[in-house]
Amino acid sequence: MLNYDTLFSDYIDKISDWTFDAHVTKVFSEMIQRSVPGYSNIIAMLGMLAQRFVQPDSQVYDLGCSLGAATKSIRRNIKVTGCNIIAIDNSPPMVKCCHNSLNSSQTSTPVKVIEADILDVPIENASMVVLNFTLQFIKPIDRLRLLTQVYSGLKTLGILVLSEKISFEDTNIGELLFKMHHDFKRANNYSTLEISQKHSMLKHVMFTESIETHKARLKQAGFKHVETWFQCFNFSSLIAQKQV
Ligand SMILES: C[S@@+](CC[C@H](N)C(=O)[O-])C[C@H]1O[C@@H](n2cnc3c(N)ncnc32)[C@H](O)[C@@H]1O
Repeated sequence: MLNYDTLFSDYIDKISDWTFDAHVTKVFSEMIQRSVPGYSNIIAMLGMLAQRFVQPDSQVYDLGCSLGAATKSIRRNIKVTGCNIIAIDNSPPMVKCCHNSLNSSQTSTPVKVIEADILDVPIENASMVVLNFTLQFIKPIDRLRLLTQVYSGLKTLGILVLSEKISFEDTNIGELLFKMHHDFKRANNYSTLEISQKHSMLKHVMFTESIETHKARLKQAGFKHVETWFQCFNFSSLIAQKQV
């Protein structure tokens, strides 16, 4: 059973910056499903994308893996041999829980869980790389370098899946979708106080950008083929493919 998230339900006198600490780790599965519209769909679809795009004798990278939801969906759906998945996160409690939960079931595709900064890890021989709501926590100044590393490490026809909370160039629509996201959270039992306290905590650590900015950066990193494959309110997922 999932642990119910009540972390920020009481008034917090002095709001600190958001961290993926042991408290967040404990409730994370529940928290992300109640907070990110379409999260479960994206996780399931990552499995379908893996079936289509993971190539024999290649590697899959789950960058910012948290508890390994994307890794598990991909692992269940890899149909080719000789692959392995590398799941990376820099939060020690996330890595510990991810490791324990992945080891509880045996499958033919091995998974290595690594505690590291994704900016420091080389990407090699990859046919699929996933950044599922992780790039938003990387400083904008470091994003091109990371995406260029991803592009260089991908095999021809390999894909990057980039899911992000997004902002909008049209501020009217942006405000509407921002409010609809809060409606979604309220419908999932988060109070106005919880929503506002979490928003304040994330303010200095999560930096959203528009789809147009993400697409332009992906092209700058080398991807010629980039498109949105999922969007719900202000949450979106892009697919970028490396071609010759
Ligand atoms: C919103 S969660 C990602 C959710 C996860 N990908 C999933 O699909 O369930 C963001 C994760 O990125 C990790 N993270 C943030 N910055 C990182 C960095 N520089 N290197 C490695 N992991 C990072 C955080 O610790 C956190 O677990």
